[in-house]
Amino acid sequence: MCAKYLFMLFLLAYAAEAQRVFNVKDYGAIEDGNTDNSVAFVRAWSDACKWNGESTVLIPHGTYMSKSVIFNGPCKGSTTFQINGDLKAPIDPSMLVDQKWINFRYIDKLSVNGGGAFNGQGTATRKKCQNDSCQILFTSMVFDFITNGRIENLHSVDSKGGHFIVFGCGNMTFTNLTLTSPTNNRNTDGIKISHTNGINITSVKIGTGDDCVAMISGTKNVRITDVFCGPGHGISVGSLGGGNPHELPVEDVVVRNCTFNGSMNGVQIKTWPNPSKTPLNISNFIYEDIVMINVKTPIFINQQYCPEHNCDLTKSSYVQISNVSYKNIRGISATDIAVNLNCSMEFPCQNVTLEDIDLWSSGGKRGKHLKNYCFNVKGSSYGKQIPPSCLPSNKF
Ligand SMILES: *[C@@H]1O[C@H](CO)[C@@H](O)[C@H](O)[C@H]1NC(C)=O
Ligand SMILES: *[C@@H]1O[C@H](CO)[C@@H](O)[C@H](O)[C@H]1NC(C)=O
Ligand SMILES: *[C@@H]1O[C@H](CO)[C@@H](O)[C@H](O)[C@H]1NC(C)=O
Ligand SMILES: *[C@@H]1O[C@H](CO)[C@@H](O)[C@H](O)[C@H]1NC(C)=O
Ligand SMILES: *[C@@H]1O[C@H](CO)[C@@H](O)[C@H](O)[C@H]1NC(C)=O
Ligand SMILES: *[C@@H]1O[C@H](CO)[C@@H](O)[C@H](O)[C@H]1NC(C)=O
Ligand SMILES: *[C@@H]1O[C@H](CO)[C@@H](O)[C@H](O)[C@H]1NC(C)=O
Ligand SMILES: *[C@@H]1O[C@H](CO)[C@@H](O)[C@H](O)[C@H]1NC(C)=O
Ligand SMILES: *[C@@H]1O[C@H](CO)[C@@H](O)[C@H](O)[C@H]1NC(C)=O
Ligand SMILES: *[C@@H]1O[C@H](CO)[C@@H](O)[C@H](O)[C@H]1NC(C)=O
Repeated sequence: MCAKYLFMLFLLAYAAEAQRVFNVKDYGAIEDGNTDNSVAFVRAWSDACKWNGESTVLIPHGTYMSKSVIFNGPCKGSTTFQINGDLKAPIDPSMLVDQKWINFRYIDKLSVNGGGAFNGQGTATRKKCQNDSCQILFTSMVFDFITNGRIENLHSVDSKGGHFIVFGCGNMTFTNLTLTSPTNNRNTDGIKISHTNGINITSVKIGTGDDCVAMISGTKNVRITDVFCGPGHGISVGSLGGGNPHELPVEDVVVRNCTFNGSMNGVQIKTWPNPSKTPLNISNFIYEDIVMINVKTPIFINQQYCPEHNCDLTKSSYVQISNVSYKNIRGISATDIAVNLNCSMEFPCQNVTLEDIDLWSSGGKRGKHLKNYCFNVKGSSYGKQIPPSCLPSNKF
């Protein structure tokens, strides 16, 4: 009996040893909202990262300011960055470097959570910089080369530039987050992803001044579910095909059970008309069970993307879009457009399917049919089509 009891005690002690909390206050962090705590944060991180077990860097309740900070791996065990309090970026952009505020790099098994908030103070910086030409586009949190990451239970508020960048990562989950920026703070993307294989975004509410989610070069195996987008520019692929010869395909993406409210676009794919002729594929997309509320262009493929109107629109996009399915998409358009599939002349979209589309115009004009546009698209439509589809209808 005694031996068994001792063994259990040993196990408990071992478990206690294997987990350890590194509280930033023990490293000198001060929660007055003004003192720069980056040195304390990095010291706490460095000890946590060396810990051979489950370590937690704890930001307790209180407001902690920090200038740009980098948390580097690789770490010995799994590491949690737990934000219970509020992190605040400096208003003065000269305290930030390299277009980012908080940067995690080269870490396997990283969790970032805690129920707290990180506030980029973007609006104050924009006001301060109104008359100067200071740089304002710093991304609040950047993940470079993270594998098996889980970002959850947090609020990202008033970013200067984007909220999250995910670059060179694998197996990432973003869940139970809110991301907010004022609509007229431009270039405040919600989650921007590239060179990443495996990312799930679920139960995330995004209201911002640019794309809610942007998938660019080398993004694959994406599942976006229960995401609320608005205001914002939509859940977007691209822009791609602007002439970078190293761009990689975007493929295997599911966007399901999402709501757009007051966003510029709903689900969109944008590529540039481009004379540089670097071929690229965008393929295997499912957009399903989506509600649109006052969205300007609910379903959009724009292969003539040229926001500054300085392109040669007689040139074709060299991006080949194929195997894209839109299913059960319903709600209200804020313009007279429901579906706009404007594909490349030289590389027409292949195998685009529209199934059960039910989109109406806003205001008192219920019943007035919207318009659908299809240019250079091969594909078909199935089931209910309001307004009538511009793709040939098919029976199953
Ligand atoms: C910017 O310039 C305008 C007019 O030149 C001035 O009224 C305003 O106070 C300035 N704002 C700041 C933040 O310096
Ligand atoms: C979501 O995060 C908030 C804190 O931001 C927390 O209070 C809540 O319990 C979380 N919900 C779930 C389902 O985990
Ligand atoms: C991602 O997760 C899968 C399944 O859990 C695993 O097989 C794979 O090795 C993981 N990838 C990375 C880069 O860790
Ligand atoms: C994403 O969700 C799918 C379906 O639930 C699951 O199979 C996959 O492993 C998840 N990927 C990650 C990176 O968590
Ligand atoms: C769809 O999303 C809503 C809210 O975002 C959620 O409450 C619901 O459970 C989701 N439904 C499914 C089938 O996932
Ligand atoms: C959509 O946005 C409008 C305007 O902000 C708001 O009044 C409405 O409640 C929102 N609808 C939903 C379903 O969130
Ligand atoms: C695009 O996909 C097609 C068909 O799968 C393939 O033959 C072609 O090599 C791909 N092109 C590029 C640039 O990856
Ligand atoms: C088309 O995309 C669907 C969904 O991603 C996928 O299951 C299917 O295999 C793809 N078809 C081809 C021919 O690649
Ligand atoms: C065409 O799209 C349908 C529906 O997404 C998919 O099941 C099928 O595999 C696709 N076929 C090709 C050749 O991509
Ligand atoms: C499609 O693209 C062409 C070429 O740029 C443009 O002239 C046309 O207005 C676009 N159509 C729609 C409906 O967006």
